[in-house]
Formats: sequence, structure tokens, C-alpha cells
Amino acid sequence: MKQLSNRQILLGITGGIAAYKSAELVRRLKDHGADVRVVMTAAAMEFITPLTLQALSGNPVHTALLDPEAEAGMGHIELARWADLILVAPASADFMARLANGRGDDLLTTLCLATPAPIALAPAMNQGMWRDPATQANADTLRQRGVALFGPAAGEQACGDIGPGRMLESEQLAELAAGLFNSRALDGISLSITAGPTREAIDPVRYISNHSSGKMGYALAEAAADAGARVTLISGPTQLPCPPRVTRVDVISADDMYKASMANMGSCDIFIACAAVADYRPAHIEEQKIKKQNTSMNIELVRNPDIVSAVASHDQRPFTVGFAAETQDVIHYAKGKLEKKNLDMIIANDVSDTRIGFNSDENSVTVVDPSGQQKLEQMGKRQLAKQLIDLIAARYAEQKRDHSS
Ligand code: PMT
Repeated sequence: MKQLSNRQILLGITGGIAAYKSAELVRRLKDHGADVRVVMTAAAMEFITPLTLQALSGNPVHTALLDPEAEAGMGHIELARWADLILVAPASADFMARLANGRGDDLLTTLCLATPAPIALAPAMNQGMWRDPATQANADTLRQRGVALFGPAAGEQACGDIGPGRMLESEQLAELAAGLFNSRALDGISLSITAGPTREAIDPVRYISNHSSGKMGYALAEAAADAGARVTLISGPTQLPCPPRVTRVDVISADDMYKASMANMGSCDIFIACAAVADYRPAHIEEQKIKKQNTSMNIELVRNPDIVSAVASHDQRPFTVGFAAETQDVIHYAKGKLEKKNLDMIIANDVSDTRIGFNSDENSVTVVDPSGQQKLEQMGKRQLAKQLIDLIAARYAEQKRDHSS
């Protein structure tokens, strides 16, 4: 179940006898490679101790909304942004009612309100409580809002009743959680992404480069593979591991990146240029290390090829998406690049803010295309990548429909 590998899963536990099964669930999720953080409601702690969950998850357990010590570690908004998925198991009737009513009266409901991540519930309660029209109405409301409901199963219950309301088994829940990471929106599509910085050699020991870590591009590659695409990641030098199910082509300079990108033309349906490509390179690479000079030195620079522009003007042009890293008039300059580089979409990134953009774990962007613009608020780069891939897949499908009609 590779889809759970490296996923950040926030497991919410609410008050019910099935809470003892959550300990097993933590183990299953971790066995499949997920990083699990646990949030418990006050009622959950009547059934199982935070210490057990802390030992199994290997992370501190979060229990209170207004705990200054916990907030100083990973605050509730940070936790909401950290999660790739919030899975609440067991989800009691009371928790479902509070969530359906938009309450934010404890840590878990607040996180559910604040998170951009998908939410899944594993209901567990007495069969009469599950069948009650109020619970059924809450379940319908939550489904309509896009919350996934896993189960409940029917069978013998802890109270002796027989009927629906049993929490699904841990392995089933892990499988269903894994399934949420497969949108299939890009099934059968070939997609290339450039990521990271380029390095332009000056001499055998020095180069010109920038602060790109590759995090944004790698997150996009992972999200595209999750959506079913065949992904080629054309990567400048980074410290990051290749995401699962992605083919990586390692390059160093802008020229290498250009050649690797053009090699895929003809078989590429979507091209995303996320790399921070050096616009210039030294005109000559010195064969020997340049010796120190008295006062100053000059290096003559020449323009590098513009990779995304070359892709967008290719005969077999893919749907082409660029990024615009700007420090001022971000949208204005992004719109200019959309037009000048003949792109289908551009993702405007304000890199003057050190909390987002280069080498940060979070980002906030504005997606601009000929139909308008849409701001995506600050969140983890992996969560953002998922939303960007959904948007790109939707626009690509629209364009294909328009061209074939
Ligand atoms: O890697 P991270 O640390 O996670 O940071 C992410 C990021 C900030 C690098 C990323 O979100 C981003 O904004 N990437 C684009 C960086 C950039 O070079 O922007 P630009 O405005 O200079 O270039 C515009 C577009 O042209 C980009 O799509 C760029 O990839 C492309 N380009 C630029 C120059 C060139 N010679 N060839 C290109 O293809």
C-alpha cells in the first residue's frame, strides 16, 4: 500500500469503546509508511491513555486546544496544515453531530474546520444511535461536504446489540485511507515536471545557483503520480528522495534541463515548469580553478535557453504550466509571463515572504489562466500540490474537450 508511504496522517480519536482499536490502527498506518500524529478528545481519554498512543505513534499526543505548551510546539493551525489526511476513528455520534454543525469547541473539531486536507470518519456507536434520524442526517450533511465515511460495519456490538455501528477493522481503514490518495484524475496521462535549482559552472569548484530546494516540484510529482499520471521528474541538484512511482532524470545545468525536457516532447501531455532555472550562465567555464584577483573580477554571462517557452512553442505542444517567482507586483508580472511564454496556466509565487516559496515547507500561490485567477491560501507544499494537480487536471480535460468539439 505505497499510497500511505510518507503520508502525514492526523488520527483523531473520540470517546467510544472502539478507541482501543485505534492503537492497532496507528500500528497499521505506520507499517504502511505513514507518519501519524494523534489527537484525542476528552472522552477518548476515558477509554485509552495518551501514553499508549504516544508510544505507538512515536509523536506527542495532542489533547487540548488551549494548551500553551502544545501550541508552542506545533500549534493547532500548523497541525491542521501538516496533515495530508485527518482520519477520525472511532467517530462517535456526538463528534459527528458537532462536526456537522461546524462546532469548534475542542481541538479535534477545530482542526477539522481549519484543515485544507481531506477528512474521513470511521463511525462507531450503538446500532440504535447510528440508525437514529439525527445521526443519519448528520452523516448525510458530512458526506455532502465531501467528508468520507468509512463504515460502519454491522455485527455484534460491545453492548450486546446486533446491527450497524461497529468500527471497521484497522487494515480495512488503512486500505480506505490509502484509496483517498488516488484521485485517478490523470489516469493514462504523461506528465513532465522540472524541479529544483540549476547550477551553472564557473570553474571546476564554483557555480551560480539559487535557493530552490525542489520541495514544491517533488510534491507536484508525487501528487501527479497519485492521480494516476506517468511522471517524469527532471530535477536539478536537491537533497530529496525520488517520490514513489516517479521516474527521475537528474540534471545539473539549465542546458541539461532543456535537453531532458525536449527529449520528452511528443509523448508528453502536460508539462509543469517548477524549476528555478538560472537565466544566465558563464560564457566560458574555466578549466582550472580561478585564482584570487586583487580587487574585483568580472564574469561574462550569456542567456540560457528558456525551457518552458521552448516547450510551449513545440509542434506537439503539451498543456504547459509555468511558475512565476516574484518579489513585487506578483500577479501583474505573472500575467505578463503567462502571455509572453505562451502558457496555458501560471502559478504566481510571492517569494519575498520567507515563510513560503524558496526552501520552505509551506507555500501560498495564485493560479492564473485565461479564465481568471484563484488564490490558494498558505498550507503544506504537499497539500498545495494536490490542489494544484486537481486544478491542472480539470483545465487540461476542459481544453481537450474544447479541442475535440
Ligand atoms: O524548490 P522550492 O524550494 O520548493 O521552491 C519552489 C519555487 C519557489 C522554486 C517554485 O515555487 C517556483 O516559483 N518556481 C519558479 C522559479 C522561477 O524561476 O520563476 P521565474 O519567474 O524566474 O520563471 C518563470 C517560469 O519560467 C518558471 O516556470 C521557470 O521554471 C521557467 N523558466 C525560467 C527560466 C528558464 N531559463 N527556463 C524556464 O523554463
